[in-house]
Amino acid sequence: MSQSDTPLSSDNGALLRTDEMTPAERYQLLTSLIIPRPIAWISSRSASGHRNLAPFSYFAVLSPSPMLIGVSISERGAGLKDSAANILETGVFCVNIAAERHITAMNTTAGDHPPEVDEFEVAGLTAVEGDLVDVPYVAGCPAVLECRLFRQVDLAPAQTSFLIGEVVAVHLSPELAFTSGTMLVDPESLTPVARLGGNLYSLLGEIREVARPVV
Ligand SMILES: Cc1cc2nc3c(=O)[nH]c(=O)nc-3n(C[C@H](O)[C@H](O)[C@H](O)COP(=O)(O)O)c2cc1C
Repeated sequence: MSQSDTPLSSDNGALLRTDEMTPAERYQLLTSLIIPRPIAWISSRSASGHRNLAPFSYFAVLSPSPMLIGVSISERGAGLKDSAANILETGVFCVNIAAERHITAMNTTAGDHPPEVDEFEVAGLTAVEGDLVDVPYVAGCPAVLECRLFRQVDLAPAQTSFLIGEVVAVHLSPELAFTSGTMLVDPESLTPVARLGGNLYSLLGEIREVARPVV
């Protein structure tokens, strides 16, 4: 590691200064400490009509009303990744929620393909046209969020753009179960996949219910 040989001490044993770490070390530490991360499997279409699909785990819920989600897409070399370029060109995209059965296909779509390559075809997936946005989505996912670009936040000097999407429609598969009388999805029926550090993924483990304190 590039940090000094004698790390500053802390209650937890070592204190690393992030400005003394290499970019690779910062990436490895951040993405293996902040886990499990949900995955936005983003489908989009270029202005010239090419379909695109790729996974992103710098992905967060931002607000329910309006329904906002955010995804951070880094640059590839000196240019934008296809997903970011398409979203900025067209202003629309879909977030496909991958189920356990999609792990291999989802990972396949992370390949560094040129913009004209259709990752739906590469991964053997069927595309369905969105209802409110002019974007294809992955057939057979437990849920799909149709989104319009709400805001782009430039994170310079990080070579990353934070794209905020407003969810304008949600597709729900009949396989999903809900807590009676609510819109709370039963997690066991969703079988979500989450990203850990490196090439590791996790599925749902033990689920515990913990009531909020009443003050
Ligand atoms: C599970 C997973 C999560 C990923 N998360 C991100 C991410 O949050 N941000 C990012 O820029 N790239 C992420 N990547 C890498 C992109 O998927 C990869 O660069 C892909 O080729 C981008 O495709 P595109 O050029 O078609 O947009 C991730 C890859 C995997 C496998």
